[in-house]
Order: sequence, then C-alpha cells, then structure tokens
Amino acid sequence: MKKNVLLIAVLIISQIAYSQKSKDAAMHQFVGKLLAKMTLQEKLGQLNLPASSDFVTGQVSSSDIASKVIAGNVGGVFNIRSVTKIKELQEYAVNKTRLKIPLLFGMDVIHGYRTIFPIPLGMSSTWDMQLVERSARIAANEASADGIQWTFSPMVDLTRDPRWGRVSEGNGEDVFLSAAIAKAMVHGYQGDDLSLPNTILACVKHYALYGAAEGGRDYNTTDMSRVRMYNEYFPPYKAAIDAGVGSVMVSFNEVDGIPASGNKWLVDDVLRRQWKFNGFVVSDYTGIPEMMAHGVGDFQTVNVKSLQAGVDMDMVGEGFLTTLTKSLKEGKISQAQIDKACERILEAKYKLGLFDDPYRYCNAQRSATEVFTAANRAEARTIAAQSFVLLKNNQVLPFAANKKIALVGPLANAKENMTGTWSVGADNSKSITVLKGLTDALGERGNVVYAKGSNLEDDIELEKRATMFGKDIPRDNRTADEMIQEALKVSAGSDIIVAALGEGAEMSGESASRSNLDIPEAQKRLLKALVATGKPVVLVLFTGRPLTLNWEAANVSAILNVWFAGSEAGDAIADVLLGKVNPSGKLSMSFPQSVGQVPLYYNHKNTGRPLGTWFEKYRSNYLDVSNEPLYPFGYGLSYSQFEYGKMELSATQLKGNQTLRVSVDIKNTGAFTGKEVVQLYIRDMVGSITRPVKELKGFDKIELAPGQTKKVIFELTPASLKFYNSELKLDWESGDFQIMVGPNAKDVSTMKVNWVK
Ligand code: BGC
Repeated sequence: MKKNVLLIAVLIISQIAYSQKSKDAAMHQFVGKLLAKMTLQEKLGQLNLPASSDFVTGQVSSSDIASKVIAGNVGGVFNIRSVTKIKELQEYAVNKTRLKIPLLFGMDVIHGYRTIFPIPLGMSSTWDMQLVERSARIAANEASADGIQWTFSPMVDLTRDPRWGRVSEGNGEDVFLSAAIAKAMVHGYQGDDLSLPNTILACVKHYALYGAAEGGRDYNTTDMSRVRMYNEYFPPYKAAIDAGVGSVMVSFNEVDGIPASGNKWLVDDVLRRQWKFNGFVVSDYTGIPEMMAHGVGDFQTVNVKSLQAGVDMDMVGEGFLTTLTKSLKEGKISQAQIDKACERILEAKYKLGLFDDPYRYCNAQRSATEVFTAANRAEARTIAAQSFVLLKNNQVLPFAANKKIALVGPLANAKENMTGTWSVGADNSKSITVLKGLTDALGERGNVVYAKGSNLEDDIELEKRATMFGKDIPRDNRTADEMIQEALKVSAGSDIIVAALGEGAEMSGESASRSNLDIPEAQKRLLKALVATGKPVVLVLFTGRPLTLNWEAANVSAILNVWFAGSEAGDAIADVLLGKVNPSGKLSMSFPQSVGQVPLYYNHKNTGRPLGTWFEKYRSNYLDVSNEPLYPFGYGLSYSQFEYGKMELSATQLKGNQTLRVSVDIKNTGAFTGKEVVQLYIRDMVGSITRPVKELKGFDKIELAPGQTKKVIFELTPASLKFYNSELKLDWESGDFQIMVGPNAKDVSTMKVNWVK
C-alpha cells in the first residue's frame, strides 16, 4: 500500500517535471525563432522600458511613448493606468510594428492596486504569511483586471536605519521574517501559473543592500562585508528567487564600490550562477545613466557595463536603445549579450501568455467588476487591523461605544494620508478616515467631536517638502495656539481624547529621509496640551518608520501604531479602538530611544565588550542612553494577556541531522479572544566567525479564547543552524546553542542544547 502511494507520488512528480520541461522547450523554440527574425534595433527596442507620462515616480520620464512604440523602440511601459490606455498602446505594438511583439505593462503595485493594504512595514507587523500572500493575490487580481502584468514588488531590502524613508516599503530588520514575506508575496502575485489572466509577474527589489544606505540617506553609498551580505542582507532576495520570482530590479547604490546597475559579480555571478535565477533583470529608474554620477564612466561606458553585468532592461535611461549599436560595432559588447537580454524579456512575455493573446489583461468587464470591490475592501479592513501594533495600554482601550470621544489631530480627517507611500493606483477620495470610521462605527449613539488641533509641521518649507505629491493636509492659517485652544475646547466635554498624530504619508517612502525621528513639534505641542487636561489620551500613531516616542510612552494612556493602513484604515482603526478586533501586530523593526542609537537591531553581534544593563566605563555603550530600544523587535500588546509556560526541549544533546522539538504552552489569561505571535530565537554560542546574540528561527501566530491554552511546537534541524563562514561556505558548526522563546526579542526564556556533527 505504502509502496503504491510512493509510486504514484513519484509518477506525478515526474509527470509535472516532464510537462514543465516540454513547456520550456516550446518556449525556447518560439523565442528562438522570433529572435532569429529580429533586427538589432528591434532587439534593442525590447530592452527599453520608458515610463508613461500618466504619472511620474522618478526624476524624469520619457515622453511621446506612442511614437516610440510604433518605431519599435519599446519593450515595455510602466505606470500607465486603465485598460483603455493600455489596450491602445498594445494595439500600436501589435498592429504597427513589423514583428507584432506585445508590450509588457508594469507598475508599482506595492501594497495593493486600488484597494490599498497597509504599507509593507505594517504588513510585516502582521507576522501572518497567509494574510501577506492574500494581500498580494488581491493586488494582482485588481492590477491584472486593469491591464497590468508586472509589478515592481516585493521590496525586500533589510532595513535597520529608520532615518531611511524607504523602511516603510520593507519588512524590517530581520532576515528570517523578511525571507518568509518575500516568498509569500511572490506566490501571491504570480500564483502557480503566470499565464492566467489574474496573475502577474513579480519583481524583487532593490538588489542589493539598498537598505544599508549610509546615514539613512536615500541613494547613498553602502559598504559591507561579504559575510554580512550572505548571512543577513542576501537571504530575502534569495528567498524570492527560490520562490520563482520572474524578475529582479537592481538597486541605485554601489556594492563593493561598483554600482549595482553595472555590477557583474552581483548580477551575473551571485544572482544568475550561484542562485540560478533565470528570469530577467531590470535597472531602477535611470539607474544606468546614474552610474555616470557615481563616477564609473561616460554614457556609452555605463551602458556597456550594465549589459555586461547582466542587466536586461533599461528603465527610463534610454541608453541601451541609443548606445549599444555603437558599442557592438566597437567590439565592447557582443551580439550574444544583446540576444541573451532580449531573449529573457521575450521569455517573460511568453510566460505571461502575451504571445497567445496580447490583450489577455485588457478585459474591460473585469476592470469594471473586480477592482475595489466590497469584498476586497472588507479584506483590506481585516488585514489593516491585523497590522496595528499596540505599543502601550493603560487600561483605556478598548473603549465602550457610549463614551464621549474627542478626536483631535491633523491626521484624524486626512483622506489623502490613509494609504501611505507608493499607493499610485489608489483613489484617495474613497479612503476612510479615522473621523469617518469612528462616526460610522458609533452610528446613532455617535458622540464624536473633532478638531484639527495643529498643522502637520510648524515649518512651512519643511511641510512643503513633506507633501510634494499632493498627499497633503491643507495648511491652516490660524496660529498654533488658536488651533490648540480649539482642540482643548472640543475636548472639554469628552471622556477620552483620541489624538491622530504622526507622520504625513509622504514623510516616509522614497526620498523621504529624516534626521529627527520625533513626532513633528507642532503635533507634540498639541499632544502635551491634551495630556495636560488630565483626561485619558489615546495616541493613534501614523508613521512609515520607527519613531522616537520616549515622551509619548511615558505620558499618554495608550499608543496604537496604525502605520498607513490603506484605503480602509479608518474603519479598521475604529474596529480596534472599540474592541471589535483585538490588536495582534508585532514590530518588525526596533523603535529606538534616540536617533543616535541607530542602526539599532536585535540581531546584533556581542562585541568584545558587551554591556551589562546600564553604563559601564570601557563597555560598548553610550554615556547618555542605554543600548536598549524603546520597543524591541517582535513587541506588541494585546487586549488580552498571554502567559508563557516553561519551554520544553525534546533533547539537550543532539547529533547530526536530528530534529529538536521546542514546545511551550501559551495561555490566554485575559478577558478577550486574541492572537499571539510566539517567537523562537537561537544563539550560536561559539563560531568560526562571530554570531548574532539572537536570530529569529521560527514564529507561530495563534489565536486563543479567554482561558484557553495551546501548545506551540517548533522544530529545529541543522538547516536552521547554518551560516556562511569566512570562506562563504554555508554550513553549521558543532557546539552549544541557546534556544529562546518569547513574545518579543527581549523578553525570552532561554535553554541550552549541545549539537554536534
Ligand atoms: C524606485 C523603484 C520603483 C521605480 C519605478 C524608483 O525610483 O526606486 O522602487 O519601482 O522608481 O517607479
């Protein structure tokens, strides 16, 4: 019987492998034949990716796309919205070019298309891979219904410096969590069959190390050891490759002194040869010509370097199109290199089914019925609430529906700010604000009064820079004091003050680095005045990055971090404030006490002079602040309390490929049904290279009713102990390991095992 089952399984697997092989063979044959017919200029056209002028996301955009398409000079176009426009452009490609090669349409569908989910940093705080995948699936469905076949997502750059505005687009500081998210996102977008009209090609970015930009300044230099690259920064990209991602975007920064856009080691050696990536590589927006400013050559040279490195498609730079013919004639590149790049792009189009039907994604009926549906919005609301992190709760939350609420703050009624950065497909006029969410939730009983209380920033020029793309909060011309007085007046008759404060949507994201991580002074002043009333103040915190919240943590009654939660943010916030949903998000990035501590991350090294608890001379520490974060990685409260039982290990002495079972009972001792993210960390005590003091190796999000206990079991094998040694060889080493379990990276209980080869 067992034998039969095994036989059937083997048969099925070999059948799948065989059918994949024959599919690949058919693709190679088709693309090969097409390539043979193409002129050099037609091939170069395929490598060219201009931006549509529909909306611009970078510094410049190429114009007059239609005539370029007709001239055969375009392989794909990005950031063009609507089936009508996409169909029109596709018709030019199909009807007016010699070989009728369809265009590839891309877009930054980063956290939803029209139905917007939380920003990625918020999504990662759900620690729920099913939800993450689901959000990507819905995004793919909506985008493809509107003509889009390719998204520039997921962004999986490890982020450890909250000054960098793009931490909002990533999954935080941890390797393991980030890799799990990379996998879930790729699968969510691409599904199991790319040729289906509702799946889209994913593009993992920004390869590589973009999150390590020095000083948190966007586009800045990165420089790190290979050991750190391989052990920490590379794994999330690699996880996306292993999950079958179809394309990769190279980053703006340099790696080992060579810009990623022209880095042969990074693209050709690591990505293609070591990781066996067989999709295509696209540059970032003008990333190739930017190599001139990096100082590695003139326009012709940087384009040569980029193609030679293995970049296939040139986003906006137009240099592949305009310089490679000359470089070919001069023998600087080979015909085979151009052919290879073109082949990879044609293969992507083939996989998407565009040669079968170039209009596969141009279905007006789908566009009308499958985008921003009630069902998708309902899911976005559920997911949004799961991303919130309750940072503090002095027993004021949840509050009863009959309380009198004063809702105050510049973000309380700011539609444009709900969806956050990179929500280019959003219709912000439909976003739900906190004011609307609370008012609707309370209905007839509603007793919500509102005052704006302050501007986003005191400094008008700073405010302008932080609201450049229209996600603004109309500036109020009253003085700060007049606005505060109004807020105090409105709050006077209330039981609870809800202060909706923090960053505006454009204060994080691309080109939005900050050197000060406080809530803007104008708002902090307001908050202080509200707290001084003596009434309970709940801070509903909008942010795209970890902020420094020492004063807030010490003085307000509760802090609910809501990130930028998407089109349904306001309803989801009301759900949590009123206790319809119990918050369960946990931080994926440490919140520092002071900006001077950054980069600050839990999985750091021990150093030769580790600190005990507080300042000691000649230890690795600061004079003026401890080494601890304000809120650690993995931290987040619930309306319930969870009691961790004693950790149990299946063995404390292990050999070779054995499996270690780590189990712990978790009990809900509170009054609400709630979810808890149970976290497993290890520490490799002695290694041939130094090892982090903690590394996440497992997590499980469980739901418990009041009084209920569940046993959580983790299994560890030597695979979890492996790391890249100084020869960059992936292996594990015998010795002692700490095994830690807890509700966050700080509050863990620890046991020891010895594991030998
Ligand atoms: C960003 C990318 C984005 C691209 C296209 C660039 O400026 O770095 O993340 O995908 O623009 O909009």
